[in-house]
Amino acid sequence: MKKLIKNGTVITSTGADPAEVLIDGETIVAVLQPGSEVAASAEAGADEIIDASGLYVIPGGVDGHTHMELPFGGTVASDDFENGTRAAAWGGTTTIVDFAVQRAGESVRDCLDQWFAKAEGKCAIDYGFHQIIGGVDDQSLKDMDALVDEGITSFKLFMAYPGVFLSDDGQILRAMQQAAGNGALIMMHAENGLAIDVLAEQAVERGETDPVNHGLVRRAEFESEATHRAIQLAKVGAAPLYIVHLSASEALEQVAIARDRGANVFAETCPQYLYLNVEDHMDRGFDGAAYVCSTPLRTKHAHHHEDLWKGLRTNDLSVVATDHCPFCMKDQKELGRDDFRAIPNGIGGVEHRMDLIYQGVVNGEITLPRWVELCATTPARMFGLYPKKGTIQPGADADIVLYDPNRTWTISEENHHMNMDHSAWEGFEINGHVHTVMSRGRVIIENDSYTGSTGHGQYLRRGLSDYLI
Ligand code: URP
Ligand code: ZN
Ligand code: ZN
Repeated sequence: MKKLIKNGTVITSTGADPAEVLIDGETIVAVLQPGSEVAASAEAGADEIIDASGLYVIPGGVDGHTHMELPFGGTVASDDFENGTRAAAWGGTTTIVDFAVQRAGESVRDCLDQWFAKAEGKCAIDYGFHQIIGGVDDQSLKDMDALVDEGITSFKLFMAYPGVFLSDDGQILRAMQQAAGNGALIMMHAENGLAIDVLAEQAVERGETDPVNHGLVRRAEFESEATHRAIQLAKVGAAPLYIVHLSASEALEQVAIARDRGANVFAETCPQYLYLNVEDHMDRGFDGAAYVCSTPLRTKHAHHHEDLWKGLRTNDLSVVATDHCPFCMKDQKELGRDDFRAIPNGIGGVEHRMDLIYQGVVNGEITLPRWVELCATTPARMFGLYPKKGTIQPGADADIVLYDPNRTWTISEENHHMNMDHSAWEGFEINGHVHTVMSRGRVIIENDSYTGSTGHGQYLRRGLSDYLI
């Protein structure tokens, strides 16, 4: 079955041009110049013509940071792989990389198998896994090598959440040395969890138990200190380092200094850190619980948003992911009604990343190619999925989004597809809208309907990061 997408503007990380895209089955086979002889003959041989007049033709989004069904804080993230990947598709994301979780004392192998079982036969779009190592020991270090051979080529460590996920500096160094040997990428949750817990305990002792305190005790200094420490450890461990969910200017500064010195250090941010803040979103009594996530939202009385947008332009921030980790208010966020420390951490947003970052184009913060690069191309390269994913070129999977820059709409809990009883993005006005989504050549969103199917999504055995040196 051959399909030709014509009359659209194809946007890749390198430019935006009128072009026609020929798909054969699941794969892009040609990108053609409109009006050329070869385009005419492609049209004559196509089984279906898709008219993309007035639309952008972009690679499907690659969200490198999601947590479907994550057990956390006595509950479980409210999107399973079926619902969460369908919501992703609605928003123009055609690949996710989710986090399998291992805690101290657990077998990495068994934990990973649990994640395979959760996802298999459920996903609307293709998916891969990172592995969280919550217990670094001789066995889990050995297991890292075996996982790399199976396509799990990145490992997340935590400097936060003492007693749950935290690795001490010695464990982190050992995991980095292991990664230096097997080619994996170390992903770091960089916050000083021990120091945070001191301030959190003191706040609760003073009776300051509202959600806003989550944002106040997780100080920017703690993020920047941990980021600096992770960078130094990675230098000694000789491993590439990827800082996840970076939110503070001070942490970005550490990444920029390291990169300027030539270190193989990368960082991701998320839409919540570009648009939301402590005062407007967390300081609203218990409703602020909807915005409890870690790293936290930052104060509006500093320049975090401006600095992060600048980092996206300068490539000190090279990826935008969602850290999609949804919890409902009812029965989930409510667990922390009397103590902010018991609020499960996370914001759901897998559906909105492409639209929210496109607002950066609308507002003049980034260019169209940079939008694609941040949301599709670089994550695909970073996580060993390129060039199958993240681009429009011959040989790539036909994961394609037709994006309508002229449609406007408003995000609401009433129109989203994530399994959440609220939206962190309620009332956000969006210029632009996903029009059509293809996953490996199959149309899964069109005419404001989902036309995909449960289990269409395939596991992606990932290669090593393109950014290894
Ligand atoms: O608040 C967050 N980010 N929840 C998910 C777990 C993590 O640290 O990424
Ligand atoms: Zn984290
Ligand atoms: Zn996360």
